[in-house]
Amino acid sequence: MKTDMITFDEKNQVFNLSNDYISYIFSVEEGKTLAHLYFGKKIRNYHGNLQYPRISRSFSANLPGSKDKTFSRDTLPKEYSSAGEGDFRTPAAVVKNENGAYASFLTYKSYQIINGKPKMQELPASFVDNTEDAQTLIIVLEDKISKLEFDLSYTIFRKYPIIVRSVKVRNMGNKTVFLNKVSSMQLDFVDKKFESITLPGAHMNERNIERNPLHHGLAVYSSNRGVSSPQMNPFIALVDKNTNEFSGEVYGFSLVYSGNHKIELEEDQINQVRLNMGINDYNFSWKLAPEESFQTPEIIMVHSNDGLNGMSQSFHHFIDENIITSKFKNSERPILINNWEATYFDFTEEKLLQLVKKAKDLGIEMFVLDDGWFGHRNDSRSSLGDWTVNTKKFPKGLIHFAKIVHGQGMQFGLWFEPEMISHDSELYKKHPDYLMHVPGRVPSPSRHQYVLDLGRKEVRDEVFNQLDKILSSGQIDYVKWDMNRHLTDIFQADLPADQQGETYHRYVLGLYNLLDRITSKYDNILFESCSSGGGRFDLGMSYYMPQTWTSDNTDAVARMKIQYGTSLIYPTNMIGAHVSVSPNEQTGRLVPLDTRYLVAMSGVLGYELDLTKLSPLESKKIKRQISSYKKFRNLIQFGDFYRLKSPFDTNQAAWNFVSKDQKEALVFSFNVLSDAQPIFTETKMYGLNPDVDYKDQDSGKVFGGDELMEMGFYDEIAKHDFIGKMRYFKAI
Ligand code: GLA
Repeated sequence: MKTDMITFDEKNQVFNLSNDYISYIFSVEEGKTLAHLYFGKKIRNYHGNLQYPRISRSFSANLPGSKDKTFSRDTLPKEYSSAGEGDFRTPAAVVKNENGAYASFLTYKSYQIINGKPKMQELPASFVDNTEDAQTLIIVLEDKISKLEFDLSYTIFRKYPIIVRSVKVRNMGNKTVFLNKVSSMQLDFVDKKFESITLPGAHMNERNIERNPLHHGLAVYSSNRGVSSPQMNPFIALVDKNTNEFSGEVYGFSLVYSGNHKIELEEDQINQVRLNMGINDYNFSWKLAPEESFQTPEIIMVHSNDGLNGMSQSFHHFIDENIITSKFKNSERPILINNWEATYFDFTEEKLLQLVKKAKDLGIEMFVLDDGWFGHRNDSRSSLGDWTVNTKKFPKGLIHFAKIVHGQGMQFGLWFEPEMISHDSELYKKHPDYLMHVPGRVPSPSRHQYVLDLGRKEVRDEVFNQLDKILSSGQIDYVKWDMNRHLTDIFQADLPADQQGETYHRYVLGLYNLLDRITSKYDNILFESCSSGGGRFDLGMSYYMPQTWTSDNTDAVARMKIQYGTSLIYPTNMIGAHVSVSPNEQTGRLVPLDTRYLVAMSGVLGYELDLTKLSPLESKKIKRQISSYKKFRNLIQFGDFYRLKSPFDTNQAAWNFVSKDQKEALVFSFNVLSDAQPIFTETKMYGLNPDVDYKDQDSGKVFGGDELMEMGFYDEIAKHDFIGKMRYFKAI
């Protein structure tokens, strides 16, 4: 048995979670208050001496019934707080008691240490294959009056500077309460000069890197759209003012959840910082009857002293090993052609067969049939909910078509949007009540479509059975699971009035339940998550689906930013990236084919354009691109990815991939706009072995690893916008 990572010092009442990289320490203080002491770089041996100063502070409340004015929960850094305990900062939890009072007072009750990590029911969560790789501490806090118990769960992983937290609330009393807010975690900091980094965006402009100084008062980063959303990724990093990609302290947080989320960042009256993160309390209320419990989703907390790249390395490795369940997680992903930007809804079987043939000639490995193959769908107005083939487009059926694709030696993928319903559909005729709506009100359409009431089992069964019929044919190798609108008209038809505040979360639980059934039954199918591109790019979805379509914006210049921001958290093997036509369909921009390829090959490569319209030269180039990607695929999808130059800050972008053994590296550098008086710039690589010599496979020149990282090389100069260059180095 390996050494314990979690210890409890009885004498000082201190809990210590430490591995080779980090320590997380907290203690039980006056009034059985669970006080936060430290989270950061590993402390070799904490001796129990850090004492939060005790002074009498005006307007601060003291412990109930106490005469001691020097102890208050108001400013004390705590592990978890609730409304009603004399802490005027934003509480992590709010409970409405049976008598209507919003009071609770959480005190420490007991603890338990478990080897490994218990499986979470109903929610996606991180896991370990070997119980020796993690330890879990469960702290029980209680409110003596309502008899509610809060299990604070902390799992520390041996191999990573990572702690995963979540909370479970149990009603041990005999009265029903309502949970109006339950954050997955709270983290208080003293004396930190932080800046925050978040990933806001929009459809076709996802995950911009935004950095802001903290200010007094409350900053909120959230989604109330029913999904994690392109508008605000469920992520935040707190960084030192001097932190950059390569050095400085970073705390990174990512929520494993796909619904409404809320991040609260508060600087208090004495410049202390509180971070709460979890399910959004917007229109949320959960009825908790006696003996019932409520589980929050979990948060992955990363600490890095090696800047943002250090944080991303931890996220990438951890997600690959401890979040993604799909058995494809370690397999190289097929290069695909998707017919969406090639044909949109306007296709015939014959047209698709031309695409398939051409794709096959170019070396593409999979054909993905996108929207418009089912019901009588020829535009976005109809047929969602009817997952049966459109026999006008496929007279001999879908399976016949899939077999032809297979006959070409290619895999076959299929698009679905299972959470949706169109008014113009058989499903709506049969079950109009499956459409989520508030009785007596006319629901709002979005892209002409509506959301299914997935909180209900019969609705999920209907979707499952329809998909099951197609997937069980054995002819589908890949599924693109799309979701093209956000939730409005929030109401779950089978819930009573006092439980309607549960609808948003029950929708997500319903979705997870459906995904669990489908992805476990069809574990031989590769799933790619999508929500109008990267509108639901979160770790909840990654648990079921190892890939995500990153953005509906396929413009290579826009993609530099989108993929750069995405890489803060997610590994390259999750990031779907396609070469599309120029001028680009979303921006109208003309970008050279080489640059389009270099950006798309920096993710899971695909093509999404009408291949039958390529010129002979373009065909030749694409054929070469595909065979070159096959050579680099393993390095790109499973090597270590480092950001070098941010397209958010400069006219350039650069990044590099390094193989795990540091024997191979690929570096990409881009210049966005050209200049009449070009400024000379250098790209310096990162993550190489400084003591090893590397040979540039194009020029044959030899460089030391240290040379490439410290001196670098000059960037290309060309009288052209949007140029890119890839260099491939091998250790000698
Ligand atoms: C979404 C997806 C696209 C495409 C369309 C089809 O926008 O992100 O890739 O599948 O839906 O309607």
